[in-house]
Amino acid sequence: MVGTGYVGLVTGTCFANTGNDVVCLDVDPEKIKVLEEGGCPIYESGLPELLAKNIEADRLTFTLDKEAAYQTAEVIFICVGTPTGEDGSADLQYVLAAARDVGAVIKALGPEQKPKIVVVKSTVPVGTTHKVRDAIREIVGPDVPFAVADNPEFLKEGAAVRDFNYPDRVILGVDDEETGVVLRQLYEPFVRSGNPIMVMDVLSAEMVKYASNNFLATKISYINEMAALCEAYGADVERVRRGMSADPRIGGKFLYPGLGYGGSCFPKDTRACIAMGEAKGVSTPLSQAVNDVNVMQRTRFFAKICSQFGEDLQGLKLAFWGIAFKPNTDDIREAPAITLMECCQRAGATCVAFDPVASENCARQHPGLCALVGNMYEAVEGADAVVVSTDWDEFKSPDFARMKSLMRTPVVFDGRNLYSTATARSQGLIVHSVGRQPVNV
Ligand SMILES: NC(=O)c1ccc[n+]([C@@H]2O[C@H](COP(=O)([O-])OP(=O)(O)OC[C@H]3O[C@@H](n4cnc5c(N)ncnc54)[C@H](O)[C@@H]3O)[C@@H](O)[C@H]2O)c1
Repeated sequence: MVGTGYVGLVTGTCFANTGNDVVCLDVDPEKIKVLEEGGCPIYESGLPELLAKNIEADRLTFTLDKEAAYQTAEVIFICVGTPTGEDGSADLQYVLAAARDVGAVIKALGPEQKPKIVVVKSTVPVGTTHKVRDAIREIVGPDVPFAVADNPEFLKEGAAVRDFNYPDRVILGVDDEETGVVLRQLYEPFVRSGNPIMVMDVLSAEMVKYASNNFLATKISYINEMAALCEAYGADVERVRRGMSADPRIGGKFLYPGLGYGGSCFPKDTRACIAMGEAKGVSTPLSQAVNDVNVMQRTRFFAKICSQFGEDLQGLKLAFWGIAFKPNTDDIREAPAITLMECCQRAGATCVAFDPVASENCARQHPGLCALVGNMYEAVEGADAVVVSTDWDEFKSPDFARMKSLMRTPVVFDGRNLYSTATARSQGLIVHSVGRQPVNV
């Protein structure tokens, strides 16, 4: 397993758990140290227990030693990051660096070796797996055998172990039948309930991942656009959402208005889709609009803060409940809370934040952005307003009276529509939410 991030570590642990011998490789000594000491470098429900079980059973090890890891592996999964590059396209430097490392080891093993399968699990633009193949081939020459495949991952952070163990589908993009057979065997234990393993060509497999993420991002931007219309016309988007969701053709998932999508996947994958179009002269106005609406959603929400306090936020103390881009994860990549805190800080406000698990990442990645406190009520002490930026369960039924008694002014910016307007009114709170009329007491 190349990369021990959210995908590599979960994949490696789950494959070990079905009886495979797995070596997890990373270039980050800190992560490997934590893992070797029996810790878990990411917050993911159920993962620490599964890690411990498989380390104990001697099926799961961790290393910084590329050569040793690649030499013995029969199947190599590349699970490194593919962040947005300067031009909006996916930055493939980590994927291709891993490919070259693999190439060097395969070359040294010579033409008689059992061919290794190099699987791209990272989310990559169509054609990347063949770039990986070409990069390895350039190093090893024509006579050394190996195969490549694409196997996009669909796990959700926060439910990653469950998603990996019970996938809706497994997508395998292969160039030859034999590779498909080996990978299918590896995944059979995970689809005993009958969910499909779909073997297809590499290019289509790569596209399945982008098409899926782009579609889900579209649903989120769509409901956010409808929320803006609801606000302008006096409708309540929560009622509208429920009305829409009752139609099975529409469904209710990913139809929650809020602060727009964040995280390490949707923002970069929609941008990568647009860049894929640009590279081939294919216009992608829908993907562009999905991205634009998402960016706009944060600006719109910040405008609500300014509508309450004016554009100069000097001297105000704003509390943030939630930093992670969604609940049940410590991932703060492209999190709306970060963008909003940056806007508020630029406008002069002081920010204080509480998150059940993401504070450490915030302190490390955004030092000086906000004061971090250990509980949600401490955050609102003396605050002029609280911004509910992540829908963690513990924010859903707060003690409103306690909040009111602690805050300088009882203003709530409910970025996740957690509170009913009736509750807000009965508790004497001033509440701004998304796609609903503000409650001004
Ligand atoms: N996070 C998700 O929910 C999710 C879901 C599906 C797909 N994906 C995709 O999977 C890929 C990985 O995502 P992630 O969130 O796990 O990333 P991550 O940033 O959490 O982890 C990537 C890891 O790879 C390591 N790495 C980089 N170069 C390396 C090298 N040459 N050798 C060994 N290790 C190396 C990094 O140190 C890091 O630990 C991305 O393409 C992402 O789009 C992510």
